[in-house]
Amino acid sequence: MTHQKGLETLDREVEVDSLPTEGEIPDWLGGSLLRTGPAQFEVGDASYNHWFDGHAMLHAFQFQRGDVGYTNRFLESNSRQKARREGTIVQGEFGTDPCKSIFKRAMQLFSFSEPTDNANVNITRLADEFVAMTETPLPITFDEEILETLGRFEYNDDLDGDLTTAHPLYDAERDTTYNYVTQFGRTSSYVVYRQASDSHERVPVATIDVETPRYMHSFGMTRNYIVLVEFPVVVRPLEMLLSGDPLAEIMSWEPERGARFRVVDKRTGEVTGTGTTEAFFAFHHVNAWEDEARGELVVDLSAYPDATIVEDLYLDELRTDEPDALAGQLRRYRLQPDGSELRGRQVSEQTLELPRINYGARAGRPYRYVWGNGQRDGAAFLDEIAKIDTEDGSSTTWHEPDCYPGEPVFVERPGAGAEDDGLLLSVVLDGRREQSFVLVLDAATLDEVGRATVPHHIPFGFHGQYVSD
Ligand code: CO
Repeated sequence: MTHQKGLETLDREVEVDSLPTEGEIPDWLGGSLLRTGPAQFEVGDASYNHWFDGHAMLHAFQFQRGDVGYTNRFLESNSRQKARREGTIVQGEFGTDPCKSIFKRAMQLFSFSEPTDNANVNITRLADEFVAMTETPLPITFDEEILETLGRFEYNDDLDGDLTTAHPLYDAERDTTYNYVTQFGRTSSYVVYRQASDSHERVPVATIDVETPRYMHSFGMTRNYIVLVEFPVVVRPLEMLLSGDPLAEIMSWEPERGARFRVVDKRTGEVTGTGTTEAFFAFHHVNAWEDEARGELVVDLSAYPDATIVEDLYLDELRTDEPDALAGQLRRYRLQPDGSELRGRQVSEQTLELPRINYGARAGRPYRYVWGNGQRDGAAFLDEIAKIDTEDGSSTTWHEPDCYPGEPVFVERPGAGAEDDGLLLSVVLDGRREQSFVLVLDAATLDEVGRATVPHHIPFGFHGQYVSD
């Protein structure tokens, strides 16, 4: 297998005005694809354990009149700066506990109150600032052109939280972003909040007390409702505090609890209902919408039968040639806003992870197409780009030998009529050449439009956004 290069450290930072390109990248594509992902997996003699742990690096691909520029820079988080100062891993991450001795364990207790800010998961815009995010509520602001780290994003409120998602959802109708934080305690709470697009203030919408908080990487949102799907991946915060173990090690899979859907009305903050179904796990919601004819909510996710995927993403596991299932399958759940009549079905045979849709036109609304990465039979890593038609479950794929594409980001063509009229941008590792390229596909057909090759490999990352000029 040739995917291992994508799990190796990249420490080179470059600025290239114009990458070598093939094909014809359309002139109308004017803007930047901004991405974050882990890029450094060792500090001194110490190594990070999990794919989610490596130091965040920012990447920008600038598209202009058919040319593609490229810049990459490390995000100078506290987590990274402490590590560089000490010459070793200091900050605990999702799957790494740096503390082996009792003395260091005592130190770790302090670091519980100063969690990681290694924002290697996603990028968004808050109050007109570009921020990189991880799953602690400590976004970091950066300059979107030169990728310089500008510092912590300052919230103008006193909302506390220990965990959050790096997948806030934008409500265009209200010009407001929604997300939630989990507050750990004897009784823990989820606080769903909204943040107007010009504001640094998070305004609580609903507070939900829970005995056993769950690990949730994303959530669903329709025009009027938020749906939190609590998979039975239980987090015991006291255990984390006392043991100093990282989050990944204290999460326990308790399938007898089932998966619980909690519905919150965005207009009133009321929890309108909960429904429980058979246990499953997902990192990523795909989309959610209101089926007005039936009065139902429709919630689509990339689902796994259980949470072994969290363990399969340890670097030791990923670096082998043994194929683990690294992609789920598109599942559609339906329920009434009061939580009743909850049931789900698999939409397609196609494997799916890092799903994207045409957010600008379809987020929170009825939609038809999902793009994402798939994993072919026997592959040790995600090795294809897939488009799924949710109407009949059929799929189209792009694949090239020894190539490992990342999340395909949809960019709508100006004046587009159809939902899939646009391009897909995906950063692909060519494992044989040990170099990455940004691939531009026709989003409707998955035919190649062009590609631009980067002077180095880009370690496998998670998410990014396209920003039009
Ligand atoms: Co994610």
